Amino acid sequence: MSDKIVLTGIKPTGTPHLGNYVGALKPLIEMAQSNKTFMFIADLHALNIIHDPKLIKQHTYEIAAILIALGLDLNNAVLFRQSDIAEIYQLNTMLMNVTPKGLMNRAHSYKAAVDRNTAAGLDADAGVNMGLYTYPILMAADILLYNSDTVPVGADQKQHVEFARDIAGYFNHIYGNILKLPEPVIGRETGLIPGLDGRKMSKSYDNVIPLFAPEKELKKKIMRIITDSKTPDEPKDPDTSTIFQLYKHFATESEIAEFRAAFAAPGMGYGTAKTILFEKINSVLTPVRTEYERLMANPAEIEAILNDGANRARVVASETLDRVKRAMLG
Ligand code: TRP
Repeated sequence: MSDKIVLTGIKPTGTPHLGNYVGALKPLIEMAQSNKTFMFIADLHALNIIHDPKLIKQHTYEIAAILIALGLDLNNAVLFRQSDIAEIYQLNTMLMNVTPKGLMNRAHSYKAAVDRNTAAGLDADAGVNMGLYTYPILMAADILLYNSDTVPVGADQKQHVEFARDIAGYFNHIYGNILKLPEPVIGRETGLIPGLDGRKMSKSYDNVIPLFAPEKELKKKIMRIITDSKTPDEPKDPDTSTIFQLYKHFATESEIAEFRAAFAAPGMGYGTAKTILFEKINSVLTPVRTEYERLMANPAEIEAILNDGANRARVVASETLDRVKRAMLG
């Protein structure tokens, strides 16, 4: 057990798919086995995009249920909902006052919005709300509130963690050594997880395999994976095949070696390979799906787990906020 504090947030903006599972959720569960981990559902961060409370709640439950069904170790991991911790809004207000506006202007996602607007001939800030503009400050508050050492994120979030470090630095420069400086860990990308068309699995490409699709739908999706037109007798390259690239993440070492050999030798057609892939994924996910469905039918049980997490998170959060308030306000 390392004594580093790991923290990560997951935004409830969509139903997780197989790529999220392999690339983000599974590694997080593994990390939580050997680290004191704060893992929260970043519902406040979804607010700048989703204005439908039912949808935010639905996605919040989905993410919580998936993490629990996947066996997240709730002793080491504090699983909670961001908005349940009142201290987060308060620290956010405090950090506003040491964060240069220019830093926000440099944020990738804000800049991307400005670029899109400019290209479309619109006002630079069209459609940009302050939730989007100050998103990095709220994220810094998340990270700093829990004294995080390491923040595992996807590459697209690295700048945000660096900003949290910068903001902590500005704060400490004025008020003394109050906030712990975090490190990003780009651990949430396990190579590229291909989708049905071979491009990165992503909602925006409409090529995803849902994580908990019913068996029939899962099979249908897998059978639709796009392949080249090699006949069964032609050897195939496992390393460029979506089928093999997905199989790798679900099978044991010896199964992977066996599949690789069969794939590279004449004799196995894509249809057979897809069936093997379906059976593997289905056998791994079925017990998890069953537990997920049970939890989703019992939201009170999810709420109880999130409440317990919030109580544990609050202990650390209130201690940090006290320190910050004393430093800033005397
Ligand atoms: N912004 C992150 C994302 O979109 C989610 C997030 C919110 C987060 N707060 C965080 C991640 C704190 C790590 C630490 O994925």
